Parts: sequence; structure tokens; C-alpha cells
Amino acid sequence: MTDGNGGRLSDKDREALFARVNRRKTNAAAPRPVPTIAYSAEVTDFTTLPGYKELRTQQSFAAVIGLENPFFRVHEGRAGADTMIGNRTLSNFSSYDYLGLNGHPAVSAAAKAAIDRYGTSTSASRLVAGERPAHRDLERGLAEIYEADDCVVMVSGHATNVGVLGQILGPKDLIVYDELSHNSIVVGAQLSGAQRRSFPHNDLDALDAILSASRRQFARALIVVEGLYSMDGDWPDLARLVEMKRRHGAWLMVDDAHGLGVLGRRGYGLAEQAGIDPREVDIWMGTLSKTLAGAGGYVAGPSPLIDYIKTSVGGFVFSVGLAPPVAAACLAALNLMKSEPERVTKLHENGRIFLEAAKRHGLDTGTSGGLAITPVILGESLKAAMLSDKLSQRGVNVMPILHPAVPERLARLRFFITSDHTAEQIEEAVEITADEISKLSGTADVMKAFAQTLG
Ligand SMILES: Cc1ncc(COP(=O)(O)O)c(C=O)c1O
Repeated sequence: MTDGNGGRLSDKDREALFARVNRRKTNAAAPRPVPTIAYSAEVTDFTTLPGYKELRTQQSFAAVIGLENPFFRVHEGRAGADTMIGNRTLSNFSSYDYLGLNGHPAVSAAAKAAIDRYGTSTSASRLVAGERPAHRDLERGLAEIYEADDCVVMVSGHATNVGVLGQILGPKDLIVYDELSHNSIVVGAQLSGAQRRSFPHNDLDALDAILSASRRQFARALIVVEGLYSMDGDWPDLARLVEMKRRHGAWLMVDDAHGLGVLGRRGYGLAEQAGIDPREVDIWMGTLSKTLAGAGGYVAGPSPLIDYIKTSVGGFVFSVGLAPPVAAACLAALNLMKSEPERVTKLHENGRIFLEAAKRHGLDTGTSGGLAITPVILGESLKAAMLSDKLSQRGVNVMPILHPAVPERLARLRFFITSDHTAEQIEEAVEITADEISKLSGTADVMKAFAQTLG
């Protein structure tokens, strides 16, 4: 290019070079077409959010047929085996306070003493704002239950599942969970970016088949089950799960939110119920909001797992530490659970009384094992909502579980039984339920009447 021109480019060569460079520049900078969405002014209106219209239709439907909203009721005192709503005392079957520890004098005293000493907040993440003795004592007490190296508590049970699952798994991994898994498990699995598969409820043959077919395509695999399923009151076969996780080289996580205080002779959860060494489970997760009368979540397991969570999970590192009075209350509740196993015995007895009475009255209790949770399946959301309303009028507070929380054909009332219920209270509630079911008018007539009001 340079010969005969004193090392300078000829005009022709310069032009050719410029053309090449410009072509390259043009190619590199060629703007990609950006997809655009035509939106209307309405998108800033919250009422256009998906599902909002359906919500309004449900609300107006309930108003037309005279149903009171069963949700967000104000309870005017401690909600235990009884509760006060609208100045009336009702038998309460809508509380997770399985061992009657919320408001127990020792639990409340522990919370009050912690307030007096530490105030009501930890103020910031435990990494920077430091810990209070109750954080450590509670974690040690929970680790003992699972014979685990260590434990970590966080401010929300839901955020514990989301944060931990989102952190320990990634896109090269597989997570397989029961189809009835709690929302927090599903959201955590989504956040992780791992491949997600669910198996039919408690169908461990199906789980085995999924792992046999897919396990080798992934770096790590995690099986997630719950200790006690909160919609159905049944539990999985832990011995089989342990055998399976070993055979497939997978981790096993048990969300024992409803198992603690309920399953096993002392209420130590699914491992005690199944007679299995709890160290066979890689990750024990649970919540502080049920038996332990507080709010928050925990994970117990091997030290490397807990150390990793404490330094990497956003819900721990970047979120405030458990409030000192909550940590102290949960610790006191845990100690009561350990020192008064008769509470668990009473709970089991009450659960059995409920299940037997329900069966005697021909109610559909699904697969409930009759420990602390028993559904009465009605098969239609409308029926469940109407029945809950009737029961409330007759002094029984129990929540309906409607579609889409469960499939429509499985809409139900869900009874939570506690150690504080009396046998008479349970028998009476079941009797009233059976009586009101027999009187429920056909829902087809109600639908027709509603259609008429709409013109
Ligand atoms: C199985 C299960 N896991 C996690 C959670 C979330 O716990 P929390 O309500 O304490 O945030 C719940 C709540 O009911 C649950 O049932």
C-alpha cells in the first residue's frame, strides 16, 4: 500500500481503508431494533392489574349473597382455643398456636424483660448492629432439637425459604418439591434459577422417577418436602426420602414449619415422628410463628451451611436481626415445649378426638393424620365460604380455603387444633359443622340468584 509514495497512502488506498474502517464501525454500532410495547394511559391505573377485576367480582358476589368477609377479622384479645370477635366469644380453630404458648405467662414475661433491657428492635442487621444473648440461645436451642451443628434465625419464615433456596441453588441445579409446597418454597426455587420440577403430593414413586430421569443433567439436586402439610394435615415418608436422596446424590430439605411442636412424642418434628436420626436431613427449616409464638424463620444444619447463610443470604445480611423481645419469647416457648411434653400429648389426643368425631359424622377429612390439622373438604369454594359464615354465626371461627389456594374440587374448611381445646369444644364444633353442612342450600340456586341481580 505504501510503495513509491514515501510511506504515505495513495488516495485510492486511503479511501479503501476508510471505507473498510467505516464499514466495521457501522457494523459494530448498528443499532439493534428495540422491541416496543404499545401501552395505553390505563396502565398506570392499579385497577387494571391482572386479577383485580376478579377480586372485585368476588367481593360484590359475597356482598349480594350476604356473606361476611371471613378474612382480616379483628380479634379483640389473645386468639387461642377461644377468641373474641365483635364482642362475642367464639371457639377458635384458626390459630397455629398448637401448644397454647402465645400469651403464656413465662413467654410474655420473657418478652417484657427483653424489652426492658434491650428495647424493641435490633435496629439493623446482626452483622453490624450485633447480637443479643437471646439470638444465640434460641439458635442453640433449635440446633439441639435437630442435633444439628448450628442454626440461624431470620425475621420472616417466608423470607427464610426465599432467601436460602435462592442463594444455595443456581441455574446448573435441580430442585424437586411436593406440589403442595408452601409459596415461599416455590418463590425461592424461582429466584434460584434452578430447573424446577414438582411431584404429586406425597407421591415418592413420582419423585424417584423424576430423579432417575433427570438427576444426571444437573450439578446439584435438592429435594424439598414439608414436615406436616398445612392444608391436609399429613406428612411424608422420611425414611424413604433419606434412602432416595442418598441414592440420587441429592440434598434433602424439610420445611418443618408445622411439624415443630406437633410431630413426634416430644414435638421435635418429622424426624422424631419417623424415628429417623435428624442428621440424615441436610437442611431443616422452620418458622417461629407457629408453636414458638413469635415471628421469623430458622434453618438448622451443618456449620458450613449456616456460616454460608449468615454471610450470603440477603434476608439475613441486609435485613434487621430478630427483635429481642421476639427472640426471647420464642426461646421461652421452646423451653416450655421441651420441659412440658404433656402439651404435645394433649395436642395429639385432641387431634385424634377431632378426626374421629369428623369421621363419625361422615365428613370428608382427606388424608389427614389427625394430629393438629384436619380439613373438612366440601368441593366448592362457595360452599366453603358459606359454611364458614354459618359456623361463625354459631360461635365457631374456622377459615375457608378457597380456589386458587387449593383446586376448586378440594375447597375446604381447615381446622387447626391446639392442646388448649377441650374435648367438648371439639365435639361440639364438629357437630355444628355436620349440622350446617346438611342444611347448606344448593349453591346452584345461589349462583342463579346472583345472576339475576346482575340482570
Ligand atoms: C410450610 C410453611 N413454610 C413457611 C411459611 C412461612 O412462615 P411465616 O408465616 O412464619 O413467614 C409457612 C407459613 O405459614 C408455612 O406454612
